[in-house]
Amino acid sequence: MKVDYMKCGDCVDLMKDIPDNSIDLTVTSPPYDNLRKYENDNFLTLEKCKCIAEELLRITKEGGTVVWVVSDRVRNGNESGTSFSQALLFKEVGWRLKDTMIYIKKGGINAGALDSYQQKFEYMFVFTKGKQKTHNLIKDRKNKYVEDRKKLKRQKDGTYKEQHFKAEEFGVRYNYWIYDTGSGKSTKDKIAFQHPAIFPEQLAKDHIISWSNEGDVVLDIFMGSGTTCKMAKLMNRHYIGFEIVPEYVKIARERLGGLDLNE
Ligand SMILES: C[S@@+](CC[C@H](N)C(=O)[O-])C[C@H]1O[C@@H](n2cnc3c(N)ncnc32)[C@H](O)[C@@H]1O
Repeated sequence: MKVDYMKCGDCVDLMKDIPDNSIDLTVTSPPYDNLRKYENDNFLTLEKCKCIAEELLRITKEGGTVVWVVSDRVRNGNESGTSFSQALLFKEVGWRLKDTMIYIKKGGINAGALDSYQQKFEYMFVFTKGKQKTHNLIKDRKNKYVEDRKKLKRQKDGTYKEQHFKAEEFGVRYNYWIYDTGSGKSTKDKIAFQHPAIFPEQLAKDHIISWSNEGDVVLDIFMGSGTTCKMAKLMNRHYIGFEIVPEYVKIARERLGGLDLNE
């Protein structure tokens, strides 16, 4: 199978060229409910989302993963709920919803409606095709207690026995991930900000580390400025990226072309 390329076009058409059971991981973020204005005013209907979910299921290897980063539009105090509709659609066509993770934006946010709390997060749905095959969970949460501890543990016969615990210095992180966003923070590639809705490089990297191994194939069907492809390449994975707007494909190509692998 051809790998390490980016192509301009509609992802539903381009996925047809990918053989069955050949992708290990997809990290992607669809156009949200017209939340952002893209060059082509593209947004995702539920009908199209269903085709995409089915096609992704076909091309993903057994045990492979899709990470779907998405948020909703609010109109007159009424959230669209599109993210949940999409997640349930994925389940309907056969994906497992392994986890509903949260991506919190540390930096500034746009002021929202005056009668609501300000929106600070997006969903990161983690779907798996059957039982997930790769889960290299990141351990970077500093444990509060690292010294040896003794605890009384109740035995089957009702008596108590002293047990010793040695906590590791770092535990597995929680399923909400916090990132600095905005100019110079999501990425140092100035050109990437010509795209209106990039996600942070670190977000893509953390998912790539968690759900794939070196040499695996990582796909982004809505690649925008090419963040997932860039991080896949840096992490020694193969990449494939699709994007419907030619200007964004150019940005992505430039980002990958200018890649310093010692970065
Ligand atoms: C939320 S942005 C992705 C941004 C990307 N994660 C990044 O970091 O740059 C969604 C992208 O999907 C593209 N898009 C919309 N419909 C598409 C389709 N049918 N096929 C391929 N790309 C599409 C949009 O042009 C937009 O660039």
